[in-house]
Amino acid sequence: MSKIETSDYKTIKSALVNRNLKQALYDKGKVIMDGVLLTLHGEEHRKRRKLEHKIFQRDFFKYYEHELFPKTLNETIKPFLNKGSADLLDFGYRITMNLTADFAGIDRPKKTPEETEDLLSLVKVFSQGATLVHSKRPHDEVNKEVLMALNEFEEKFLSPSKKRREKLITKFKNNQIEKNELPRDVLTVLLINEDKISLNEDLIKREIAFYLQAGSHSTANSMTHALHEIFIWGENNPSEFNKIKNDSLFLQKCVHESMRLHPASPVAWRKSECPVKLDNNIELDKGDLIIMDLHKANQDKKIFGDDSDIFNPHRIVPKNQFLWGLTFGIGLHMCFGRDLDGGIVSNENTDPNNHQYGIVTLLVKKILDEKGSPDPKNKPKSDLNSERPNWGSYPIIFGEKL
Ligand code: HEM
Repeated sequence: MSKIETSDYKTIKSALVNRNLKQALYDKGKVIMDGVLLTLHGEEHRKRRKLEHKIFQRDFFKYYEHELFPKTLNETIKPFLNKGSADLLDFGYRITMNLTADFAGIDRPKKTPEETEDLLSLVKVFSQGATLVHSKRPHDEVNKEVLMALNEFEEKFLSPSKKRREKLITKFKNNQIEKNELPRDVLTVLLINEDKISLNEDLIKREIAFYLQAGSHSTANSMTHALHEIFIWGENNPSEFNKIKNDSLFLQKCVHESMRLHPASPVAWRKSECPVKLDNNIELDKGDLIIMDLHKANQDKKIFGDDSDIFNPHRIVPKNQFLWGLTFGIGLHMCFGRDLDGGIVSNENTDPNNHQYGIVTLLVKKILDEKGSPDPKNKPKSDLNSERPNWGSYPIIFGEKL
C-alpha cells in the first residue's frame, strides 16, 4: 500500500467526488465510528444518507435559526453575561451541544446547565475517540473512556429519548397523531426507518453519538477561530471594525473567510477500492491511501489569490467556488450541517433582514453585540491534546473596549 499526499485544490476536489475512494480517516476511531454515516461507502452510504437527509433541509434550518435558536442562545449566554466573562470554547460547546442534540434527537428534559454539562462531558470523550488518528494520548486509554461514555450516554440520555419517540411513533402508526407532530430529528427518522435499511441498537447508539460530536466540536471551534481572526483584524483595521459590527452580511463573509483558514478537519483521508486516476496525473492502486491537506488546499493561490494565507474578508473568489473552500467537504460525504452552520451565501439581492446567516455567524454576532473582547489578563491557549490546530481555551470579557 502506498501513501500519496496532496494539497492541490483541484486534485482534492476530484478525489472527494470519486466513488472509488473510500473514507479512511476514522479507521482508528472504530469504537465510536464503526458503521456511522461518515465511514460508510457505496450503496450502504447512499441509503443511510438519503434516510437522514430528511432532517437536513434548508426550510428547517431557516426555521431553526429564526424561531428556535435565539431563545437557546439567550438562555445559554445569560450566566456568562452575568459573570462578565466567558471562555469561548466553554460557551461554544454549551450552545452547540443544545443545537446538535436537537438535530440528533437527544432530549434534555431538565433543561439545566448541569444537564448540558453532563451531556457535554460525554460528547467530549466521543470527540477524542473519533479523532483518535490525531490524538497524542495513548489510544487504548481513550478507547476505554469512549466505551464507558457510550454506556453512560445510553443509560442517561439515549434510552429515555428513544422511549419517548417510540411511544409517539406508535401513536402515529395508530393514526392518533399526525406525522408533523413527531420530533424532527435523526433518532426519530432511524426509529421509523421508512426505507427499512439495516440497523441495530448498537449502531443507532454510535450514529447518534457521532452526530453529537460531529456538530458540536466543529461549530465551537469555528466560532472561536472566527472571533480570533476578527479581533486581530479589528485591531489592525479599526475603521473597518464598525462595518463588521453593523453589517451582518459582511460579518458572515468574515466567518466564511475564517472557515477557509481553519477547516474543522484539516485533512481528509481516502483509500482506493480499485485503480484510480485523479487530476494532475495522480494514480492510485487498489488499497492506496490518499491524504488530502484541506488546510493547505484552502490557501491554494490559484483559487484564492496571492494573499490566500491571510484573513481578508474582502476576498473575491471565482464564481464556482465557495469562500470557505473545502471546509465542509464536497461530494459524497459533504457536510449535512453546511447550510445550518455556514448559512446561505449572500448576493446583491439579499435582504439582510430575512437572510439565513448560519449558526456560526449568529454566535459571533452575539459575542460582538455584547462587546466581547479578549481578556487581557488571560491569554488564549492552544489545545495540546490534539495535533489539530485548535484553541484549548479562549478567555474573553464582556462590555469593555471595542
Ligand atoms: C463549522 C461547522 C462544521 C464543519 C466545518 C463541518 C465539516 C464537515 C466535513 C469536512 C465533512 C466531510 C468529511 C469528509 O469528507 O471526510 C462533514 C461531514 C458531516 N457533517 Fe459536518 N461540519 C460542521 C458542522 C456540522 C453540523 C452542525 C452537523 C450536524 C448537525 C454536521 C453533520 C455532518 C454529517 C452527518 C457528516 C457526514 C456526511 C456523510 O458522510 O455523508 N456537521 N462535516
